[in-house]
Amino acid sequence: IAHGKMQRGTPWWSPQRKALLQAAQAGTPRYVYDLDTVRARARALASITAIDRCFYAIKANPYPAILQAVVAEGFGLECVSQAELDHVFSVVPNMAPQRVLFTPSFAPRREYEAAFARGVNVTLDNIEALQRWPEVFRGRTLWLRLDLGHGEGHHEKVRTGGVAAKFGLPVARFDAFVSEANKLGVRISGLHAHLGSGIDDPRHWRDVYANLAGLADSVGTIEFIDIGGGLPIPYTPDAEAFDLVAWRAGLDEIKAEYPRFGLVIEPGRYLVAESGVLLLTVTQVVEKDGVRRVGGDGGMNALMRPAMYEAYHGIHNLTRLDDGATQAFDVVGPICETGDVLGRGRLLPTATVEGDVLLVADAGAYGMAMANTYNLRALPAEQVLGKTE
Ligand code: LLP
Repeated sequence: IAHGKMQRGTPWWSPQRKALLQAAQAGTPRYVYDLDTVRARARALASITAIDRCFYAIKANPYPAILQAVVAEGFGLECVSQAELDHVFSVVPNMAPQRVLFTPSFAPRREYEAAFARGVNVTLDNIEALQRWPEVFRGRTLWLRLDLGHGEGHHEKVRTGGVAAKFGLPVARFDAFVSEANKLGVRISGLHAHLGSGIDDPRHWRDVYANLAGLADSVGTIEFIDIGGGLPIPYTPDAEAFDLVAWRAGLDEIKAEYPRFGLVIEPGRYLVAESGVLLLTVTQVVEKDGVRRVGGDGGMNALMRPAMYEAYHGIHNLTRLDDGATQAFDVVGPICETGDVLGRGRLLPTATVEGDVLLVADAGAYGMAMANTYNLRALPAEQVLGKTE
């Protein structure tokens, strides 16, 4: 790979059209995942020598076969709730607690207790918890999540830094946290910052590392610097793939400057987004006031990202993949809300009709994970390619 424009290959699903149409026969809406794509992304990250530990943020997609695949590639797992912790230990055989990181937000006290009982790494992001629950934290080792004062990412709802965000200890309170921790015999072994999701600038993570490393020197007990997740994937047709080369160069450079800390990342989307497609069956095709709409049997209930973030996902008619896609349609779902739109003005074959299978691309991250039963519609089915489970 070279700097600059990154090549994007043919998506995995295009040569798998027959298998996917067959999978759709078993019922839609249905998420189908390709584990080879997950493994390829995992290997790309694992090959970066500046990175000492990778924790996959399972909130993006906790499907068991995916967790097993990323753990087999040497990744740890990042969890944000007790249920995610329980899930990890129940579906990944012999998961070592040191390979699990717990980074919750406003979790109840019992979830921290449960995490310590399991022996996983725990991240805390405020002083109040230390003050209110000293007996939970006394003598423990912790990672501290900081708010570096600004958020980043593809939409304001996914920016996790700055005054509007609930996450992280402001840097101005860092010294206060350290002295509170000292009082309780709490050892701070990691500094953490995750500023948002879908961040395009490859230099972002080296800046975060530099920021945290600067603070870490004043503590003396820091072993790890966790620069979060947030790596983007190219959702729109004209988007370029993330510039991993520039990203790695930034990390190499900053790691050389501050070599004594272990560099930790916790990506979610990057590993799984492109590995998943959502299959829908066309229910009705309707023209109203000059707008043509194709309805699928899943909408914002099956994939919330377009309604919630105006997110773009490619949409294709899998049944008529070889026909020209020349007619503009709004692709909608069956939910009783005007916002139940998966894509506007999308080109699909003119012949698109009830019973056709639609493929919504790049749906492997925050797809099924955020699906819901609104209108009492059933959750989508899930499978890995070649396997119905
Ligand atoms: N670490 C922490 C502390 C996080 O809060 C998150 C995501 C990640 C890592 C992983 O971020 P990623 O690499 O996936 O960007 N539902 C939204 C994304 C919300 C992300 C929440 N936190 C979406 O569909 O775009």
